[in-house]
Amino acid sequence: MKKILLLILVASALFAVEGKIIFEKNCTACHLGMVSMAEFKPLFKAGKIKAPPMVEIAAKIKASININPIGDNDNAEDIHRFTVIAFIKNYVTHPSWDYYMCDSVAINRFKVMPAQTHLSDEELQAVSEWIYDYFEGKELK
Ligand code: HEC
Repeated sequence: MKKILLLILVASALFAVEGKIIFEKNCTACHLGMVSMAEFKPLFKAGKIKAPPMVEIAAKIKASININPIGDNDNAEDIHRFTVIAFIKNYVTHPSWDYYMCDSVAINRFKVMPAQTHLSDEELQAVSEWIYDYFEGKELK
């Protein structure tokens, strides 16, 4: 039993690492990850920011998507996590201003994100899960 638990722990830790690595390799050319407002502002003013930081994106998407399960379904939190991850995963391959959720400042400042079509389904899933979990409770401030 202990061995199985250990295996599960190691496997989930590897998955988390993989999501982080995928983010660093494929997203940080444009997106900052965790950043404070004090670090962000001067970079933004200097025109060095190419996309909204992921800490901001994660918080905005989580706050925009509200889940109201009906009947006796009480897994609102799990459904929320699943839905946000599914949105991020789909956005990466199908970006559009039509359903973009971040700050409207971005619309004036950036072009729509170029679709990232080189990642596998597993990689997209891992990076989207990592984004949800890593930035949990964090915000740009
Ligand atoms: C070439 C630059 C570039 C790369 C690389 C890039 N993005 Fe973006 N991304 C942008 C820009 C610009 C925006 C803001 C405009 C938009 O939403 O399309 C954005 C917005 C987003 C959004 C916001 C959607 C919303 O509703 O607010 C998500 C989620 C996202 N990116 C995820 C990713 C992930 C995950 C990766 C790596 C796999 C990635 N991006 C790689 C430029 C990039």
